[in-house]
Amino acid sequence: MKILIIGADGYLGWPTAMRLSSKGHKVYGVDNFSKRKIELENGIKPLFKIETMHNRTKEWNKTNPKKKIEFHYGDLLNHRFIYQLVSKIKPDAIIHYGEQPSAPYSMVGREQAVFTQHNNVIGNLNLIFAIKKYCPSTHLIKLGTMGVYGTPNIDIEEGYLRIKHKNRSDLIQFPVKPHSYYHLSKAHDSLNLSFASRVWGLRVTDLNQGVVYGTETKETILNDKFKTSFHYDHLFGTVINRFCLQAAIGKPLTIYGKGAQVRTFLNIEDTLNCIQLAIKNPAKRGEFKVRNQFTEIFSIEQLAKKIKKASQKINLKINIKHLKNPRHEMAKHYYKPSNKSFLKLGLKPKLLSDEFLISEIKKIEKIKSNIDLDTIDPTVKWDQKGK
Ligand SMILES: NC(=O)c1ccc[n+]([C@@H]2O[C@H](COP(=O)([O-])OP(=O)(O)OC[C@H]3O[C@@H](n4cnc5c(N)ncnc54)[C@H](O)[C@@H]3O)[C@@H](O)[C@H]2O)c1
Repeated sequence: MKILIIGADGYLGWPTAMRLSSKGHKVYGVDNFSKRKIELENGIKPLFKIETMHNRTKEWNKTNPKKKIEFHYGDLLNHRFIYQLVSKIKPDAIIHYGEQPSAPYSMVGREQAVFTQHNNVIGNLNLIFAIKKYCPSTHLIKLGTMGVYGTPNIDIEEGYLRIKHKNRSDLIQFPVKPHSYYHLSKAHDSLNLSFASRVWGLRVTDLNQGVVYGTETKETILNDKFKTSFHYDHLFGTVINRFCLQAAIGKPLTIYGKGAQVRTFLNIEDTLNCIQLAIKNPAKRGEFKVRNQFTEIFSIEQLAKKIKKASQKINLKINIKHLKNPRHEMAKHYYKPSNKSFLKLGLKPKLLSDEFLISEIKKIEKIKSNIDLDTIDPTVKWDQKGK
C-alpha cells in the first residue's frame, strides 16, 4: 500500500514510518518540525539524543534500499502543499498524527490555545478537503485522544451512544467533556471528520488513544539514529516517563492532587499494532469508525505505587510526594471506558510490567547528566490569571 504519515518526525510518527516501511508498504512522511520548534522555544529537549529527520531517513533508506521512506518537509496549514502532495501520491491510507499534542502547552495562555486549535483543526480540515478533491476513497486514520470523553459518570463507549429520550431512541456521537484546549481541538476534529464522512462519503477511522509509554520498538532498537523521543518535562512529558525518571535520580514521584484520577495507557508497540489493524480493517465509504485505543487503566496513585514497587526490586528507595494539582480535573470519579474494538480485531496487549519499568529506570540512570531538573515540575496552571 501507499501510506502517507503526517507528523512523521514525531514520537509516534517515526516508529510508525519504520514499521510500515519494514512491512513492505511504500511510506511517505510529512512534518513541519513544529514540535522541535516548541521544544527550542521552551528550553526543553528529549532525554536521549534524537537524530534529525533527514539523517534518520537517510540512514533507514541506506539499510533498507528496497523499503525507502520518502520524507517531505511541509505544513498541513499550507493547503497548497498538502493538495499537491496528496494529488501526486494518491495514498491508499493516511495516518494523521500531525497535531500539537500537549494539554499543558495549550493551557499556557491565549496564544498557545489559539495556536493549538488553529494548527490542529485547520490542518485537519485542509487534509479532509485534499482527500475529497484528489483521492476520496483514501482511508484516513486520525489520532484522537481518550481525553475528549472526560470522566463521565457512565461507561464510555467507542464513539457512539444509543440513547432513549422521551420514548424515542437514536445512536448519537458520545458526549464529550474535554480536559484542555488541546483535547477540545480533538473533539472539534472528530465532528469535522464525522461530517465529512456523512456528507462526502469519506472513509475515516478516529482513534481515541490513551497515554502511550515506551520508546523501544523492533525498529528503534536497530540503530541509535532510529531512536524516538522520551520526554519527561512538564509540557510534553507523560506520567510514566516522569515517575521512572524521578525514581532513577532518587527524587520523590510527584503526584498532582490526591492521585485518584484515572487514565488509560498503552505500550508504543501496541500503538503500532493498532495502526496496522486499523489499516487492515478500513472504514467503509461514508463511515466514521471510532475505536478506543488503550490496553490498561490506572489511577495516578496506582502507577506511582507500581513504579515504587519495581524500583524497590533494584534497591532504590522511593518516596511519593503530592503537589497541588495544576489541572482542572475531577479528583475522584467513575471511569469505565470500553476498548473492545481492537481486542476483537486480534490485538494482544503488551501490559505494563516490572521488567519494563526496571529497564526504563536503568536506561535513564545511565544518562542522568542529561536531565534538566528545572523542567520537571508543572508551571502551567489551568486557572492562571491574565494570560
Ligand atoms: N503520545 C501520546 O501519548 C498520545 C496519546 C493520545 C493521542 N496522541 C496523538 O497522537 C498524535 C501523535 O502524537 P505524538 O506524541 O507522536 O506527538 P508529536 O508532537 O511527537 O508528533 C506530532 C508531529 O506532528 C508535527 N506537526 C504538528 N503540526 C503539524 C502541521 N501543521 N504540519 C505538519 N506537521 C505537523 C510535529 O512537528 C510533530 O513532529 C498526536 O495527534 C497526538 O495528539 C498521542
